[in-house]
Amino acid sequence: MRIGLIGVGTVGGGVVEILESKSDFYKESLGLNIELALVCARSDEELAPFKEKGYPVTTDAMALIQDPSIEVLVELAGGYELPKKWIQAALEQGKHVVTANKALLAKYGHELFPLAKEKGVHILFEAAVGGGIPIIRSLQEAFVGNEVQSLSCIINGTANYILTRMSQEGLSFQEALQEAQEKGYAEADPTFDIEGIDAAHKTALLASLSSRTYVDFEKIYVSGISSLTSADIAFAKDLDCSIKLLGIYNKVEDQIDVRVHPCLVPNDHLLSSVNGVLNAVFLECDNLGPTLQTGAGAGKLPTASAVVADLVALSRYASKLPPIPMDFFQKETKANLLPISETKTRYYFRFTTQDSYGVLANITRVLAESRISIESIIQKGVQDPGKVSIVVITEKTIESRVNAAIEKIDALESVSDKSQVIRFLM
Ligand code: HSE
Repeated sequence: MRIGLIGVGTVGGGVVEILESKSDFYKESLGLNIELALVCARSDEELAPFKEKGYPVTTDAMALIQDPSIEVLVELAGGYELPKKWIQAALEQGKHVVTANKALLAKYGHELFPLAKEKGVHILFEAAVGGGIPIIRSLQEAFVGNEVQSLSCIINGTANYILTRMSQEGLSFQEALQEAQEKGYAEADPTFDIEGIDAAHKTALLASLSSRTYVDFEKIYVSGISSLTSADIAFAKDLDCSIKLLGIYNKVEDQIDVRVHPCLVPNDHLLSSVNGVLNAVFLECDNLGPTLQTGAGAGKLPTASAVVADLVALSRYASKLPPIPMDFFQKETKANLLPISETKTRYYFRFTTQDSYGVLANITRVLAESRISIESIIQKGVQDPGKVSIVVITEKTIESRVNAAIEKIDALESVSDKSQVIRFLM
């Protein structure tokens, strides 16, 4: 499959990097040959690193689109009018399109999607919403046995990053915005991030997929985060809430309620712990019930990974391939499993001991001899008469040392019950 790429900014560069690093896997394991046939950017300067690597390059987007050997246009330039022209021209010529351009699709999708259908080609846009989170394909395919009744999403990484840094580090709005821009999360025009416009583009697309209707983003209520102050952040904490910029979709009888605005989210809701540049989409479905997808919603490689997933999907559709077969699930390709004795983690040990002199010293001696480093120790008084619970938290250690040490400790005269061992997640 020969692809033409327009736009070599953050995400475009990431796409080239991933295609290069994974091409052997796509060829050998998936039987796909995805070839970057032409790279286009506005200036020779931007194209120089790609030319150096041997890719054919051009500054003429229309020449790329008119090249009959190119089957897929990957549009990663951003903006509205020019990309619209390119995509229309590509579709007219029977080319598939992969884009991360949520603004364009929210504004002109009602023209572009029907054109793609008429021409018998696809527009794939996984990277347009939620960066690397596969929410588009989930709504199109995986959730198809459900009706989405409501959706709440943290869908702008920059806004979430700003609110998190204000809340956790006490940064001012401006300081946090500057950090997000330096990290490459923000849109070229950051008002799109902070005024909720980018979130509205994405929410309109998610609401369309959920309701299977055309949701015009210009008609949805949008309010951003720029008027929030550290006082609001502090009062939210008093209310045991976090403030999040949310995209919201609800089915209300025969209408749909779609809006984007800052929300007080109770701290026991799953969305309240989605911090930093992370995005998350929380759905309530009729059959599945509640479900959450979360991950990096912005940034070079996360977003590029979604573009590449679209290219692989297109390549498979074009080759009429069935779902990726499970032919690796057989004896010949057996996994090399790490034995449990070689795993490394932190541990919680609860020892039940007699209440007598030197018990703790005996236990810690065994741990020291076993080269297990202690992170903390808890003893909360004496429980049953004569019995004490001592909890030891270890630093990361190897399981085989733990087994040997626990055996020795359980054999100590002062230890009365079998010791409890629980591994930490991290
Ligand atoms: N500016 C966007 C964000 C980038 O912060 O989420 C990904 O669309």
